[in-house]
Amino acid sequence: MDKELVVVIDFGGQYNQLVARRVRECNVYCEIYSYKYDLDKIKQMQPKGIILTGGPSSCYEEGAATCSKELFELGIPVLGLCYGAQVMSLVLGGKVERAAVREYGKTEVNVDNSSALFQDVSPNTICWMSHFDYISRMAPGFRAVATTANCPVAAAECAEKQLYAIQFHPEVLHTQEGSKMLYNFVRNICGCRGDWRMDAFVDETIENIRRQVGNGKVLCALSGGVDSSVAAVLLSKAVGEQLTCVFVDHGLLRKNEGDEVEAVFGPEGNYDLNFIRVNAQNRFYEKLAGVSEPERKRKIIGEEFIRVFEEEAKKIGAVDFLVQGTIYPDVVESGLGGESAVIKSHHNVGGLPDCVDFREIIEPLRNLFKDEVRKVGLELGIPEHLVFRQPFPGPGLGIRIIGEVTAEKVKIVQDADAIYREEIAAAGLDRSINQYFAALTNMRSVGVMGDERTYDYAIALRAVNTIDFMTAESAQLPWEVLQKVTSRIINEVNHVNRVMYDITSKPPGTIEFE
Ligand code: XMP
Repeated sequence: MDKELVVVIDFGGQYNQLVARRVRECNVYCEIYSYKYDLDKIKQMQPKGIILTGGPSSCYEEGAATCSKELFELGIPVLGLCYGAQVMSLVLGGKVERAAVREYGKTEVNVDNSSALFQDVSPNTICWMSHFDYISRMAPGFRAVATTANCPVAAAECAEKQLYAIQFHPEVLHTQEGSKMLYNFVRNICGCRGDWRMDAFVDETIENIRRQVGNGKVLCALSGGVDSSVAAVLLSKAVGEQLTCVFVDHGLLRKNEGDEVEAVFGPEGNYDLNFIRVNAQNRFYEKLAGVSEPERKRKIIGEEFIRVFEEEAKKIGAVDFLVQGTIYPDVVESGLGGESAVIKSHHNVGGLPDCVDFREIIEPLRNLFKDEVRKVGLELGIPEHLVFRQPFPGPGLGIRIIGEVTAEKVKIVQDADAIYREEIAAAGLDRSINQYFAALTNMRSVGVMGDERTYDYAIALRAVNTIDFMTAESAQLPWEVLQKVTSRIINEVNHVNRVMYDITSKPPGTIEFE
């Protein structure tokens, strides 16, 4: 059976990945490509539908992102969103102009239910608008199928050619019935069966890995994070003991984390694989002694990690395959997929492939979004505490300790963080906050405990909500939770006499506190 594909053409809009995720929620597989991508290659993929995303510019400006008319003549249904809708109109002979008023935010839209796009959508529905320009004249053959008080063409269609243009953003949650509209497009208009499911993905991927690996030897750098854990389990199910996982404990993990990873993947654990834990804590602490500059710390940790890994790899000898837990947002953001190239070089432990003697890289999660990786994890029976683990930076607590890193400071931040996590979970907030942790400031100040003067550290608590980790809002934690965490940290963690809550958003702050 052919794999169904919907192609998302990216014009640089901020919601490009969200569009793709929403399509996949309709159980339809889709991939993102830049508007500059060769149309012939897209044709060869035989997509069942094409979606054009939003974008930051005005489509009638000189040099603005656009697409060829041919894209609309392939006989493949096309849905344009916001900028994509305007490009479609302009390219097909309509007119786009700057509107007198910018339409922004939640807006009531009147839709025509006779359009297949709006089947079963309420006639008056709230949608998310964000545009300066508007379609002032529709392209020939199109009719308006939605309007707002300020926008005569909130959506237009040429049903005969299966072309649809929507001025608002169905992909964002503020558009209340947006998922239904996207469902109508991919399932009803494009006719996709909707058989992109994680159970099928698991079976198919295990089969493919077996075929690719044969009798080969496979090496995986396991961090205990979601992506590398899921990748390792897939490999273990596929090739068992042909897989060796190396887990470097750099002494900058959260409390008990090293043992937890070992409990799952080690000899007493649930999986068939060779597990090597390298206890390199002291090596890292020695290298970090006296260093307080954050970038320098990151560099030292990254380099030492590679050195330790290299030593282990040498012991194992040449391997055939190296497993990497790359996921789809990494692919898109590295510029290979979409248009918005955001390169987070410092975010990954770079250089790993060079230090290992291997033939090929296996990236079993390369096509998945994070929520899909988690579904695969559950499908594979990986414990929930690993599957729903929050993001944790490669350099670990090394960048959650301001100033010099010492074993003593690591212990302080580990203990404080463990209490914080316990209380967040007890308050039932652990799945709703995207990232939260304790950091150790380098500030010591005077306090009083019992009748004694103290001169101890301040712990900073951070909790943020974010969609993409590029921007974030500080979470409004209940006061009682903050109070409880504070009093427990002060009482239970030595050398801490003050707790602060960081309410800075990103930007201007970053999520990490380094
Ligand atoms: P910032 O602090 O830049 O972090 O706002 C954004 C997200 O990235 C995570 N992060 C890292 N992840 N290696 C990683 O794998 C790193 O070096 C790294 N630095 C930051 C951070 O935890 C947050 O989720």
